[in-house]
Amino acid sequence: MLEANSLTLGYGDTKIIEDLQLTIPEGEITVFVGANGCGKSTLLRSLARLIKPQVGGIVLDGEQLRRYSTKEVAKKLAILPQTPLAPEGLTVLQLVKQGRYPHQSWIKQWSNEDEAIVDRVLELTNMKDFAERTVDSLSGGQRQRAWIAMTLAQKTNIILLDEPTTYLDLAHQIEILDLLFELNEIENRTVVMVLHDLNLACRYAHHIVAICDKNIYAQGKPEDIITPQMVNDVFSMSCEIGKDPLFGTPLCIPYGKGRKI
Ligand SMILES: Nc1ncnc2c1ncn2[C@@H]1O[C@H](COP(=O)(O)OP(=O)(O)OP(=O)(O)O)[C@@H](O)[C@H]1O
Ligand SMILES: [Mg+2]
Repeated sequence: MLEANSLTLGYGDTKIIEDLQLTIPEGEITVFVGANGCGKSTLLRSLARLIKPQVGGIVLDGEQLRRYSTKEVAKKLAILPQTPLAPEGLTVLQLVKQGRYPHQSWIKQWSNEDEAIVDRVLELTNMKDFAERTVDSLSGGQRQRAWIAMTLAQKTNIILLDEPTTYLDLAHQIEILDLLFELNEIENRTVVMVLHDLNLACRYAHHIVAICDKNIYAQGKPEDIITPQMVNDVFSMSCEIGKDPLFGTPLCIPYGKGRKI
């Protein structure tokens, strides 16, 4: 459904991703992990056509991504970028309504269905009380939830999110990840996200893609790929791998460099 072939991405002469091959498993949750600056956002953005490949291409539903119109892409996939920016003075409600834009045309104006979807995603993200507030007046976590609501309002089969849990307190992190998990379980939506918390990644991902040295270092089920060696190679950090006491998924416990045991 979503596939990258011989993908090379970069900025000017600098190559960030080189000759990468990736198939996003349909109906599953895929999480990209990797060190700062390794190219996770670049890769995610290319999957949403926000960056043009230098070499290779992306196939969405059997067709080259570049061949779709912008509206067609927006009906098939939604992306929450790492640092989205809203125009000054825009309210949460106005922002979330933007998510319905790809579904409108001159014959299909704003409908009761659009209204119901906007209402529902505001509720799901706990943002109903903030609907009339301007986005720039919100706290970091509230703002992040407003953007997540907009992404969900697009009602696409594929949802791409770049660090959706940034700025969120632990309870809201779990709430958002649970929400994405439910959308995947109940509505079979394909979720692809970047997460920095390896332990939460292991808990929620069916498929982890570890990025390092301009390509995929390893990919697969968390329990198959998360090892001390992998963490050392990808993050240059020594750790022990234990088991999450609740879910049994891998738990990464880092060794400190300064503080001694
Ligand atoms: N617009 C740009 N122009 C030039 N270089 C860029 C641009 N955007 C990103 N880069 C560089 O490309 C590399 C990969 O950036 P990217 O944002 O994809 O990393 P990342 O893995 O998402 O990192 P992080 O974990 O910090 O979010 C970095 O070295 C970054 O400085
Ligand atoms: Mg990033």
